[in-house]
Amino acid sequence: MRCFLCFRAPLHCILLLVLQLLLLGTPSAGQKVQPRIVGGTTTTQSAVGGYVLNLRYDGSFYCGGSLVTSMYVVTAAHCLSGYKPGRMTVQGGVSKLTQSGVVRGVAKYFIPASYRNSTLNMDVGVIRLQSAMTGNNIRTISLCRVQWRSGDYMRVSGWGITRTKNTSPSTQLRTVQIKLIRKNVCQAAYRYRDTLSGSTFCARSAGKDSCSGDSGGGVIFKKQLCGVVSWGLGCANAKYPGVYTSIHRARSFITSSMKK
Ligand SMILES: *[C@@H]1O[C@H](CO)[C@@H](O)[C@H](O)[C@H]1NC(C)=O
Repeated sequence: MRCFLCFRAPLHCILLLVLQLLLLGTPSAGQKVQPRIVGGTTTTQSAVGGYVLNLRYDGSFYCGGSLVTSMYVVTAAHCLSGYKPGRMTVQGGVSKLTQSGVVRGVAKYFIPASYRNSTLNMDVGVIRLQSAMTGNNIRTISLCRVQWRSGDYMRVSGWGITRTKNTSPSTQLRTVQIKLIRKNVCQAAYRYRDTLSGSTFCARSAGKDSCSGDSGGGVIFKKQLCGVVSWGLGCANAKYPGVYTSIHRARSFITSSMKK
């Protein structure tokens, strides 16, 4: 059951999720539980602002992240919990996964004490790099200081799978706008599946969404990092919005981790 909620999660999780769904029954035919950019458009690292990083395990892309200072990366806890820092690398400055960019090792990572694999409560984590991430097309993004309301649009960028049926990541960076929805509407959509924890907000956009492999990626509002891609059921499914970790809820954890 571990993977049952790792929806927008590392790509290798998907197979397990599909198996679990086959065993448990799906909410509607052909649906997959997974992490997510479906729809949206291709873009470049410089166009989105240079903060978009990709996390690799033994060299393979599996999650996204955001550069908040030259030494620290914000991602999802489910992209870190159980992973060995020595096998992880972080790549910046690229638009295509096949480019070399700037690669840094992981010195250490931090996960909130209240994080749980089972509920994905406080699904946020901080990585300290072995050395500063600087170079061409690499910029930092500041932590959210602005308030949002339902109906506002935020932006997610990543290399996650581009169609629910795809299993391989997108080579070119993609970006999509997502529309925030009220928490009670989101909770109602997931009433048979989960209780949305207080650290989350929800968003959707018909036919567009974040998807598998986008996990850990930043959600941008007014040029600030306001959310982290966490999970969802299927991708771009009108019935099931994407669930994101709120940076407002995670701010004190992030800033204290950066002082350790
Ligand atoms: C989450 O799952 C991974 C893999 O099974 C495990 O190594 C890790 O300790 C778990 N984390 C928590 C917080 O339970």
